[in-house]
Amino acid sequence: MEKRMVPPLMEPGTTRESWEQIRRVELLRLFSSEVYGDTPREFETRFTVTEESETMGGKALGRVVQVQVTARYGTFSFPFAVCLPNDGKAHPALVFINNRAKGNVHLDEVEAGGFWPAGEIVARGYAAAAFHTGDVDTDCDDGFQNGIQRIFEADSSLRPDDAWGALGAWAFGASRVCDWLLEQPQITPGKIAVIGHSRGGKAALWCAAQDERFCSVYSSCSGCSGAAVTRGKAGERVAEITRSFPYWFCRNYSRYAGREEEMPFDQHMLLALIAPRLLYVSSATQDQWADPQSEFLSAVLAGEAYRLYGLKGLEAEGFPEQDSPLHGGQIGYHLRTGQHDLTLYDWNRYMDFLEAGFGTLPEGIGKRE
Ligand code: GCU
Repeated sequence: MEKRMVPPLMEPGTTRESWEQIRRVELLRLFSSEVYGDTPREFETRFTVTEESETMGGKALGRVVQVQVTARYGTFSFPFAVCLPNDGKAHPALVFINNRAKGNVHLDEVEAGGFWPAGEIVARGYAAAAFHTGDVDTDCDDGFQNGIQRIFEADSSLRPDDAWGALGAWAFGASRVCDWLLEQPQITPGKIAVIGHSRGGKAALWCAAQDERFCSVYSSCSGCSGAAVTRGKAGERVAEITRSFPYWFCRNYSRYAGREEEMPFDQHMLLALIAPRLLYVSSATQDQWADPQSEFLSAVLAGEAYRLYGLKGLEAEGFPEQDSPLHGGQIGYHLRTGQHDLTLYDWNRYMDFLEAGFGTLPEGIGKRE
């Protein structure tokens, strides 16, 4: 296994209790103050179903739901689409943070394309929900004038250095979809997962790290500031990502550009925050910008947190062959042949992993609060 100098996840002698009460809390605070920014907690939410119809040949009930969030400085709304299996039973749900075509949050388009293959997801017995990133926060540097941040701030020119960016806002969006799902009789409350690709994968990881109602997260090709260990990483690094996408993060993060060695954290610690829940990471052979080796290494290192619970992390002898999924522990990984993408192959491997893993989740994980 590759050796790389990364800061230790925990001190020797850390127990499950000291992990949960001290170290985990400290790490959440670090990612919040140094990377993604602070997630606001004071707001109210209302949901309105604005479209409803049978879909997928009657196998699912499709809905578009408007989420209305009200905070100190205003109200902001965004829609999500959901397809609920129509067989009268409760099902697990997959919440997708969609960072590509906006069209597929409309009911008439949900079956199109591999990026969010809602038809296949429902056919495997899941509810499929998705929202578009741009509906929660614009994916451009607009000074936080148009996204959800504006209802939490009196003046966007006075944002503190730890104010949340777009990744934090997208993570927040997924948690609001979870709020709604938890109220639906068609959903099994302990089986709600969040999924994202690339920038959506970074947001999905940050979402599940904070929101323990998600029993699992799947990050596809999330790379820099997502699943990949930053120290020694190939391809994109903090300098590149904070130059091109400063608004994804809080301002503090750009201080580490070219100074990764000074970070009191690295991304394996973000993955460890998912323990003891089910974590899945995938990479693509041609995606050197994200760096598969660094994504894999991070998933291996996160296993230490799972061992505190008597669980296996990522079971691997070394970096795997392509298209040979590793599904032996609570952390799953695969390296798909091909480009930076999220394909039907990836979705199916993730659902395989979940189906084997659901039964291993500790009691009480991801239940209604
Ligand atoms: C850019 C960016 C990556 C990101 C990717 C994507 O390539 O540099 O960090 O993951 O876009 O979201 O597709």
